[in-house]
Amino acid sequence: MIYLDSAATTLQKPPAVARAVYSAVTHLATPGRGGHPAAARAGEVAFRCRSLAGRMFGVDDPERVVFTSNATHGLNLAIKTLVHPGDRVVVSGYEHNAVTRPLHALGARMEVASGPLFAPQETLAAFEAAVTAGTAAVVCTHVSNVFGYVLPVEEIAALCRRRGVPFVLDASQSAGVLPMSLRELGAAFVAMPGHKGLYGPQGTGLLLCGELLPAPLLEGGTGSASARAEMPDFLPDRLEAGTHNMPGIAGLLEGLRFLQRAGLGRIRAHEEQLTALAARRLARLPGVRVFADPDQSCQTGVLSFQIQGVDCEEAGAALARRGIAVRAGLHCAPLAHQTAGTAELGTIRASFSAFNTPQEVLALVRAVSALPGKGSWAGEEKIPRNWA
Ligand code: ALA
Repeated sequence: MIYLDSAATTLQKPPAVARAVYSAVTHLATPGRGGHPAAARAGEVAFRCRSLAGRMFGVDDPERVVFTSNATHGLNLAIKTLVHPGDRVVVSGYEHNAVTRPLHALGARMEVASGPLFAPQETLAAFEAAVTAGTAAVVCTHVSNVFGYVLPVEEIAALCRRRGVPFVLDASQSAGVLPMSLRELGAAFVAMPGHKGLYGPQGTGLLLCGELLPAPLLEGGTGSASARAEMPDFLPDRLEAGTHNMPGIAGLLEGLRFLQRAGLGRIRAHEEQLTALAARRLARLPGVRVFADPDQSCQTGVLSFQIQGVDCEEAGAALARRGIAVRAGLHCAPLAHQTAGTAELGTIRASFSAFNTPQEVLALVRAVSALPGKGSWAGEEKIPRNWA
């Protein structure tokens, strides 16, 4: 199988990740539960993982790196700490349901700072207009999971700092690919999954916490302050009720070590080259509409396309039958598709990791060119900036 669905989950992992998971199952107990060596070893692995993540993502105190089950878990913690029913919250036009559904469930008033694809100045202008002193929070994705569009989050965070509004970053598609620092952003929270660009196992995630004391989603045992009825008022215990996913955390630590050795810059450059190759070759096929940044300055290794006359889900299934794994449809991000004007048809998405090759990209292009039933959109090779 040629796996081009890393925006959902990276499937090819550094071999050390699986080895660490296996070893943890038999060698690690739970941090803070018991003074025996198996608990101490677990505490050491958890601390190393927090410390390395803290160094990579600009968190001075490793205890402010909280383990979560995924980015959705972290975003729920962040949003439910900051937002109350009726609050006004500003989001980008490219948010995932992991942001919009918690806001909807809370009864927040969600204002979308909308702007066309691959147009960071227009995105920033939309935030400038929408964020006011009365805004309870700004929640913004770093990179669109559908289109790979890199939003100008440093500038949006600076705007939030100037206006005194808490900023939450969804780093689901950027963690492990783009440099990012909680400290430099001055963010209230940054949420990220462990199982995508960090190359950890599913069921892992990190929530980087700024200055605030977050509200727990779960109450329970923490192995600390056990005589108290309330959850501890310190991190990470406040947000980590119950037994830790130590196999996941041990695997995640190896994923982070892999990134440290490989270097984010090299991984990003590799993925962008694959994206550019895929965009160029797919755009040459009759009937294929590619959503690519014309100058490749604000797009990562995620590429959406449509094939005229072919249903996206059917195309995804047909590619799977030919041994190529992509994701098609709305990608849990209907807002992003509305913003880009693709909500009706959805898109087919290829997304790359450090382990993909140009040969795999060319195999995708060949498979797309062989799909039956394509129509023709002659001349429309790329989506112009104002297409949305
Ligand atoms: N958010 C993930 C994706 O884009 C699951 O596929």
